[in-house]
This record gives sequence, structure tokens and C-alpha cells, in this order.
Amino acid sequence: MYNIAIDGPAGAGKSTIAKEVSKRLGFIYVDTGAMYRAMALSCLRAGVDVTDEAAVTATTDKADVKIAYKDGSQIVLLNGEDVSTEIRKEEVGKNTSKIAVYGKVREKLTVLQKELAATNDVVMDGRDIGTSVLPNADLKIYLTASVETRAKRRYDELVAKGENPDIKVIEEDIVARDYNDSHREISPLTQAEDAILVDSSNMTIEEVVTTIIDYTKK
Ligand code: CDP
Ligand code: CDP
Repeated sequence: MYNIAIDGPAGAGKSTIAKEVSKRLGFIYVDTGAMYRAMALSCLRAGVDVTDEAAVTATTDKADVKIAYKDGSQIVLLNGEDVSTEIRKEEVGKNTSKIAVYGKVREKLTVLQKELAATNDVVMDGRDIGTSVLPNADLKIYLTASVETRAKRRYDELVAKGENPDIKVIEEDIVARDYNDSHREISPLTQAEDAILVDSSNMTIEEVVTTIIDYTKK
């Protein structure tokens, strides 16, 4: 199996790039962030205080998170229900990096992610794929971009949806999430020693995609 790991901070372009690379190579795309989001949703639905580790793990232990493919796109199932749209809500996003600090939550999802990569050619994106989930991946990319660029991308996405966001608030949210993700004790966001750094601040989507595909040929 050929495994490509793409890690990096929020808004770096991981999911956009990983989806396109997987399509061109005929691999499956695994969005591990969606799996953490589904775990956070299970806690919100159960009314659990996300700062209470015991309560969170009691809930996530029972949550059945699966990924499946529908019309070529990844969908996420929580106890059999398609929650792909609901996990994108702001409230879910905010709570995800809080429950992602707990070892039990990470262990459970890491097992599922390893299984997917053992049985499929995958492009998997997340925060700890190259460092912890797939340490022997065939290709590891650490995709990043400046905070300003990443905030501007999120801003443009929201404007395109008809919203009127405050770019300062988006920037603060990105800085806070970067901090949480890179300072947690277990599997923090960090560039693996053998990962290739790609800074997409001044690159188009097509440039990033072809850069990565070129590395698979080396
Ligand atoms: O998954 P991650 O949070 O890393 O980023 P994303 O959800 O893929 O969002 C990145 C946004 O930046 C999307 O709106 C892309 O169209 C845009 N973008 C990009 O991904 N890469 C570039 N080189 C330029 C723009
Ligand atoms: O797309 P976006 O950058 O908003 O985030 P995401 O990839 O959907 O991930 C949401 C959150 O899940 C991240 O901020 C991390 O806290 C957590 N996560 C993680 O801890 N490990 C992963 N492999 C993927 C996501």
C-alpha cells in the first residue's frame, strides 16, 4: 500500500490538496479531522462537559465512528448516522481541539486510521499522521502557510457563503487553535523529521498538488 501523510495547521489547505491528490492518484482520501469532529459531536449531543476527561472518554468509548465513501467523497458516520454536514458547524469545530487532547480519544481513532492505511492506498491528512499514525508513510508532507494567508482563505470562504466575518476574529481563532494543537502533551502538531515542508503562502492549489505528485515519483 502507498501511504501519503499530510499534516499542518488549520487553513493550510490540507483537505483541499489531499482530496485532489487522492483523486489524481486513484487513492482514497482520509480526513482524520472529520473523525475527531464526530467524537466532539457525540460529546455535545450527550451534553458532556468537554473539560471533563472521564466524562468525555466514557462517551467516546461508546461512539462508533466510521468513514465511508459516497459518490467518491468521504462521509462520516456516527453510530450509523451520516453526520458529515453537522460536524462542520462552528460549535463542533471549537470543541474538537479540546477533546483531541485526551489519550483515549486519540488511541481509538489512531487504530481506525492505521487499519485504513494498511488496507488501502491513502492520502491521509491531520495533525499527527506523519509523526504518530503512519510513521512509516511512503511520503510525508508538512503543509503550512502564514497565519495571515490562512485567515484570509477562511475569510474568503465565509464571504463566498454570504457571511460577513471579522478577519481579526478569524486570525485569533487560528492562532488559538494552532497553540492548542501544537502544545498538547499527546501527539502535538509538529513536522516529522522526514517530512517535506511545503509553504503554500504564495502557491496556487494546482502548484501544491503537482509539487506533491512530483514527490511521489521520486
Ligand atoms: O484542511 P485545512 O484546514 O488545512 O485547509 P482547507 O480546508 O483545505 O482550506 C484551505 C482554503 O484555502 C480553501 O478555500 C482553498 O481553496 C484555499 N487554498 C488552498 O487550499 N491552497 C492554496 N495554495 C491556495 C488557496
Ligand atoms: O479543517 P480544520 O483545519 O478546521 O480542522 P480539522 O482538520 O477538521 O481538525 C479539527 C481539529 O481536530 C484540529 O484542530 C485538531 O485539534 C483535531 N485533530 C487532531 O488532533 N488530530 C488529527 N489527526 C486531526 C485533527
